[in-house]
Amino acid sequence: MQAGEIPVHAALNADVETDVCIVGAGIAGITTAYLLLKEGKSVIVLDDGPIGGGQTARTTAHLSNAIDDRYTEIESWHGQDGARLAAESHTAAIDKIEAIVNREGIDCDFERLDGFLFSPAETGPELLESEFQAARRAGVANVVLVQTSPIYSFDTGVCLRFPRQGQFHPRKYLAGLTNAIRAMGGRIFTETRAEKIECGPPTRVTTHQNFTITASDVVVATNSPFNDFVTMHTKQAPYMSYVLGFRVPCGTVARALFWDTEDPYHYVRLQNLPADTAAGEPRGESLTEELLIVGGEDHKTGQANDADERYARLEAWTRERFPMAGARCSQWSGQVLETIDGLAYIGRNPLDGPNIFIATGDSGQGMTHGTIAGILLTDLITERENPWASLYDPARKTLGAAERFVKENVNVALQYGAWVTGSDVHSTRDIVPGSGAVVRRGLTKIAAYRDETGSLHECSAVCPHLGCIVQWNANESTWDCPCHGSRFDKQGALLCGPANRDLAALDPVVLPLESPLLAGL
Ligand SMILES: Cc1cc2nc3c(=O)[nH]c(=O)nc-3n(C[C@H](O)[C@H](O)[C@H](O)COP(=O)(O)OP(=O)(O)OC[C@H]3O[C@@H](n4cnc5c(N)ncnc54)[C@H](O)[C@@H]3O)c2cc1C
Ligand code: FES
Repeated sequence: MQAGEIPVHAALNADVETDVCIVGAGIAGITTAYLLLKEGKSVIVLDDGPIGGGQTARTTAHLSNAIDDRYTEIESWHGQDGARLAAESHTAAIDKIEAIVNREGIDCDFERLDGFLFSPAETGPELLESEFQAARRAGVANVVLVQTSPIYSFDTGVCLRFPRQGQFHPRKYLAGLTNAIRAMGGRIFTETRAEKIECGPPTRVTTHQNFTITASDVVVATNSPFNDFVTMHTKQAPYMSYVLGFRVPCGTVARALFWDTEDPYHYVRLQNLPADTAAGEPRGESLTEELLIVGGEDHKTGQANDADERYARLEAWTRERFPMAGARCSQWSGQVLETIDGLAYIGRNPLDGPNIFIATGDSGQGMTHGTIAGILLTDLITERENPWASLYDPARKTLGAAERFVKENVNVALQYGAWVTGSDVHSTRDIVPGSGAVVRRGLTKIAAYRDETGSLHECSAVCPHLGCIVQWNANESTWDCPCHGSRFDKQGALLCGPANRDLAALDPVVLPLESPLLAGL
């Protein structure tokens, strides 16, 4: 977030018309806008924050066709043909990013490099051998099994090398795409929340300030779709992931992407540092230090509040393997949406009009999935055949994924138990400045936050999506919903959906009718 100046845009302040209205200006929405403009469509993009202020600002931006859920699983869920199309589409996404970077001359640190997948010593070589075979069957012809990785400070043992992966700086990339969109006549409005979509005719998006966008097609690229209340959210689950950045002397860590097969897994890459952050260097890129980025320690959103311990474990993991790691100089967390069958949902929104599209379920690979969304949605909207359409269809049924579906939804149902438990603290007097806690008040629960001056701010702890009780996240000072990942700031203002409004002021609480609690779960 410290780099990549993205042009600032005004909020929408009039009713407008366009061919396609895109809600969400992360990598999925902005890529879709860019590719549709190239096809001659008129496009309007709305975002309730700045461009690239969502999960795209928090990514580590590994660009990879080594699928996170692994080819063995993808093949078992989607068959050999599905795995082949998954490999083809992720490979095409990296190629598309490279082509756009070159065509638009975007200075975003894009580079091609190898990716290495390794296993903890106790796992044995079988897992990687079967992954190697599955990747080859999926058509990843250049993947090879090698005796070790180029991390010379520790022995990874046998690992898989995936050539021609990529990395870039996502905000710099979005800045370049935004300039290209504006040059082609695309219109972007920030600080503009879409509140309602009517599929029509006419198809209309209504904003929080009651302006309307009339469009032939609408794309909801809000990471988690706010226009789908239940269906999609039973098929994907939100996980928080944690990242640390360390200074390392240039050249001491190989420039490559690294992942392991632990659960949750670790992910590693390097990033150039601007020179002025390294003492005494001339402007430009640092010649002496770079940033080692290490992520992992995922857990379900709203179901753990122990970030300090997670960062400490991540740091210990890093120092054991990368003894050259210097000072810890950055840390952040963010949310990924894991689907039950390892691939994103991109296409027509189920149970909606034929001209309402969604892109969601990044599965930790939102850079490539967001780019696939741009390619696939452009084809669907311009009525071109696309071989990936069924694989990514949001309405697909994946029989082999029933176990994951049941596990995630039982987990969600259990979260409603928070309605009958007590308070996090004995009394709101026990909440220290700068902290929050959920407290019981009669039949309902309150999200209470005490600010640094000692004033108490209270709002309902009931998530306006489907009525789960939000939990305090001390790491980010947010209220996080443990059911489907809606998040709110310390005073209850919406940060991300699927909820589409703030936590309620303290009026009597009414559960949304669709709540599983009312449906007897
Ligand atoms: C720690 C971490 C590491 C990651 N590492 C990788 C990686 O190495 N490789 C990879 O491929 N992926 C990675 N990901 C995943 C990737 O970052 C995301 O999947 C991707 O950025 C999602 O992009 P998006 O466009 O779908 O959503 P976002 O970037 O979240 O954009 C959605 C936008 O919609 C806006 N919005 C929401 N609701 C509304 C509304 N009602 N009206 C208007 N606007 C709205 C939001 O403000 C936001 O700007 C990582 C994610 C995290 C958190
Ligand atoms: S996000 Fe679904 S109930 Fe909160």
